[in-house]
Amino acid sequence: MCGIVGYIGSKNIKTILLEGLKELEYRGYDSAGIAIMQDDDLHIFKAVGKLDNLQEKTKEYEPQGFGVGIGHTRWATHGKPTELNAHPHMGEYSYVVHNGIIENFKEIKEELKERDFVSQTDTETIVHLFEEYLKKYENPQEAFHKTIERLEGAYAILLITKAEPYKIFFAKKGSPLIVGRDGSEIYFASSDAPLIGHAKEVHYLEDGEWGVAKAGNIELFKGNTPIPPKFQKLSINKELAQKGGFRFFMEKEIYEQSDVITETMMGRICDDGIDFDELDHEFLHNISNITICACGTSFHAGLSGSYLIEQLAKIPVRTEIASEFRYKKPVLQKETLFVVISQSGETADTLEALKMAKDAGLKTLAICNVDNSSIVRLADRSILTRAGIEKGVASTKAFTTQLMVLWMLSVYLAQQNSSLAPKEIEEEIHAMSTTPKALKVRQEMHERIKRLSKRYLHGHGFFYIGRDIFYPLALEGALKLKEISYLHAEGYPAGEMKHGPIALADPELFTIALMSKNKLYEKTKNNVEELSARDATICAISSQEFDLADDFIKINDWNHFMLEYYEMAVVLQLLAMEIAIRLGNDVDMPRNLAKSVTVE
Ligand code: F6R
Repeated sequence: MCGIVGYIGSKNIKTILLEGLKELEYRGYDSAGIAIMQDDDLHIFKAVGKLDNLQEKTKEYEPQGFGVGIGHTRWATHGKPTELNAHPHMGEYSYVVHNGIIENFKEIKEELKERDFVSQTDTETIVHLFEEYLKKYENPQEAFHKTIERLEGAYAILLITKAEPYKIFFAKKGSPLIVGRDGSEIYFASSDAPLIGHAKEVHYLEDGEWGVAKAGNIELFKGNTPIPPKFQKLSINKELAQKGGFRFFMEKEIYEQSDVITETMMGRICDDGIDFDELDHEFLHNISNITICACGTSFHAGLSGSYLIEQLAKIPVRTEIASEFRYKKPVLQKETLFVVISQSGETADTLEALKMAKDAGLKTLAICNVDNSSIVRLADRSILTRAGIEKGVASTKAFTTQLMVLWMLSVYLAQQNSSLAPKEIEEEIHAMSTTPKALKVRQEMHERIKRLSKRYLHGHGFFYIGRDIFYPLALEGALKLKEISYLHAEGYPAGEMKHGPIALADPELFTIALMSKNKLYEKTKNNVEELSARDATICAISSQEFDLADDFIKINDWNHFMLEYYEMAVVLQLLAMEIAIRLGNDVDMPRNLAKSVTVE
């Protein structure tokens, strides 16, 4: 995910901005840039790739004395990772950096079509809009306020302008932004790490807050009302700051899911349906079936997606493990849409499967988290999941965002072929908009899982069971546990246990039962009772009380199965993590595993 820094003061401004961006490297980025204003002189530098490239570009420039500057690391979401798309974006005399997504950028761009847009980004509209308002209101502060009032979506924004060269204008809604100070020096950043060692005290902006800063002075507003900043001491260390105070990146990423899922949906859902810029009627014309191909967790997202596409869009789907698909001599038909799913976009087996499909003349679509990755470059079309960098080897937020894309895709396809009535589409959209709540980690839930995990550190194996779409979720829950705890676990369709695995049932067989209220509850319950009758230890996850469970994790009572799915996904991730932590394992870097599997 993108990162922001800003500075007002007399220290070496170039060094402060570049070092600040370095502290944000861990968040992942594909391009970076800085803009520095010294009196009326503006210096702007941008580079694709690593920060070293940006450093190299700035090496001839040595700032002297007081300056005002902003910087940004970009993780591409709208438009490719190019220098033109890198921030800061410029108008005629103003410069902006932005994290988040401006949902109504197309509408604004249309209104401002007389202006000279050079990038494909949503961000550029901010600076043009500001300059247009400045013509009208003649007061930069008022123009800035009017600008942010027009923006829909999520943002953390820093803007500098020659119209007021000693100031930084800033605003926050939905994306994090912090302002810090040390005497008259003013600092900005999107997370703590760049501020440590510089700002003595910081104010964490709340949504809807905006303001203007100059040396030694920060004016803060909520709407039209001036408010005092709530400064607090900044004392945590850098490593903790990068992990956002969490013990592991995996834990941070589990907690982040509720926010990043909003980014996945942004600009793609509206009240009455789904719209993908990445797709159109022509591309999908003549498609009669879909093949989804992926590995590991991405395969589990794909398998879950196959239930959604078949149930909502009524299009036949087959789901293939990429390493198998490559060598099974598959029959490939032109009317198949070939969908690959990959967090990294570099997984060798998935890439090869994609090549085979392309060579056979199939239309191809990638669902991926990394723009410009090999898979994105090769596929005809791609939809980015916008989860931001995932550092934990065990995939969490990539999985939940992949599934959101598949869910949106199912509804999009259902709109195209009218397999859902408008009212049903509305219900899906409503459920999607509620997903951030379902993904939110509740403290009491986390505490309960932490306590309960100590009972699951031994035994001769785990069975994760579920039915319908909860079966692939069971597969994913078992994979999470295996990867980081090194305990044996299997995912199984609940109804299939009686065809063999039930022979293993005894108190040392731990069954994690996913008991959805909205999908085949009674049937799943029967399957779990059969295991309980044979003395298996049952940990049930459900909104419905279940007396036979040895342990019970109660989720919220949702009326849509996908909301149950998402909350259960979080429970399974936390359970695996807490067991692994108790066993003393390195959760972020489990043995024998790599984040990106670029070999066969
Ligand atoms: C599991 C995990 C792996 C990946 C798999 C595919 O937590 O991370 O199973 O899902 O290696 O990787 P991508 O999605 O990058 O293609």
